[in-house]
Amino acid sequence: MPAAVILGGHWGDEGKGKVIDLLAERCAYNVRYSGGSNAGHTVVNEHGTFAFHQVPCGIFHPGVIPMLAAGVVVDPEALLAELAELECRGARPERFYVSERAHLVLPYHRLLDGYLEAQRNELRLGTTGKGIGPAYSDKAARDGLRVGDMLDPVRFVQLVRRRTEIANQYITAVYGGEPMDVDALVRQCAEWATLIAPMVCDVEREIRAALCRGQLVVLEGAQGALLDIDAGSYPFVTSSSSGVAGACASLGIPVGEVGPIVVALHAYMTRVGEGPFPTELEGEAGQYLLRVGNEFGATTGRPRRCGWFDAVASRYSLDVNGATSLAVTKLDVLDHLGHVRICVAYEIDGKRVRYLPSRADVLARALPVFEDMPGWKQSTHDARRWEELPSAAQAYIRRIEELMGAPVSIVSVGPARDQTLVLRDPLAVP
Ligand code: GDP
Ligand code: IMO
Ligand code: MG
Repeated sequence: MPAAVILGGHWGDEGKGKVIDLLAERCAYNVRYSGGSNAGHTVVNEHGTFAFHQVPCGIFHPGVIPMLAAGVVVDPEALLAELAELECRGARPERFYVSERAHLVLPYHRLLDGYLEAQRNELRLGTTGKGIGPAYSDKAARDGLRVGDMLDPVRFVQLVRRRTEIANQYITAVYGGEPMDVDALVRQCAEWATLIAPMVCDVEREIRAALCRGQLVVLEGAQGALLDIDAGSYPFVTSSSSGVAGACASLGIPVGEVGPIVVALHAYMTRVGEGPFPTELEGEAGQYLLRVGNEFGATTGRPRRCGWFDAVASRYSLDVNGATSLAVTKLDVLDHLGHVRICVAYEIDGKRVRYLPSRADVLARALPVFEDMPGWKQSTHDARRWEELPSAAQAYIRRIEELMGAPVSIVSVGPARDQTLVLRDPLAVP
């Protein structure tokens, strides 16, 4: 049975959480494959509203085994706090597993994230401050600590001590900051290791075996395809491979073992943090989407920048990742507008182009070329079937489908689970 991948096709916050919650119900395993506590995936269910940061969104479904795979960077302090809070609020999975290959985010990574951002000044990226860049840097430099290291407590504390001492050298000599208390951190890490150890296993081997047994595995993306370290608008990206290739690398599964790929796209665009955003709406129009869409970061609370649907950037995401179907979310946010716009090309230095430039400085000069469509000026919140959508909303979805070259399987018209139209089975194996 091929694995299903669900990922975001924009700069994050496409409503992946809702889509994953919806689809994970049917799966045996729900595995996060990239990123760390920089993610904020919102799920609204009978227990309340949840913003998942590291824990996979399907954790509430009985029988689903949530896992974190090798490509995730695990912040043990934040993970333990998140699991404890979820337990208090009704999530009691029988099992929860973390890959022994996953790297750790330790407190010095978070500290260094802040110093690096301060040092960038006007070139800052607007990171979430969760230590993601420094943790993936250590991983690539082969200086990282892995979750599996926690299984040998004596060696683990030695490694923590050594890494913290080195981090302190940077903190004091390069940034002029206060060193971390090495002994306190070592003690803290030993405690986290005791608590995390029972969750550690060879997640990737488990998943390959599950796929051989024909079980349904849903691989959960974080961030969005436009924030991918390679494919995204570098340097305004995150530090992981958020696309489908990242899922294969993280899980150690052959590319041919991936089946359904569901790409979540909002019906407009948002972006948190810095970086080029050709269709960004400034002034009242942007404020309108911010307000109606309640566009505040689920992790940092920062207001999200908002703009019209960018078919050039979205199509690029699909070209890079492939998609067997699309989940178009937040359609309802556009409900009361007189017209809606789709960016179908860019004008860059007087030339019309229909591709996403690889350089962020070039993308920053892109002027959007819009196609206008009539608005529908009525609520879609209560629509549950295609026929219940106003015809102008149907035309908007069909146009997105046409421009993306992929069918829409899900239309979301509100944050709640039932505010969803399923047009075809998103998990059907192609
Ligand atoms: P994720 O990171 O992709 O999971 O998305 P976030 O959870 O960060 O942001 C999506 C926000 O939109 C959350 O507050 C969701 O509850 C909300 N949301 C999801 N789908 C819809 C929808 O169709 N309509 C509206 N109005 N809100 C939605
Ligand atoms: P979900 O999974 C939106 C953005 C940050 C910043 C850049 C780098 O909820 O969609 P980082 O902390 O990763 O080094 O920050 O990436 N970013 C996100 N934006 N949603 C996310 O996650 C994001 N994760 C990181 O705002 O611009
Ligand atoms: Mg989010």
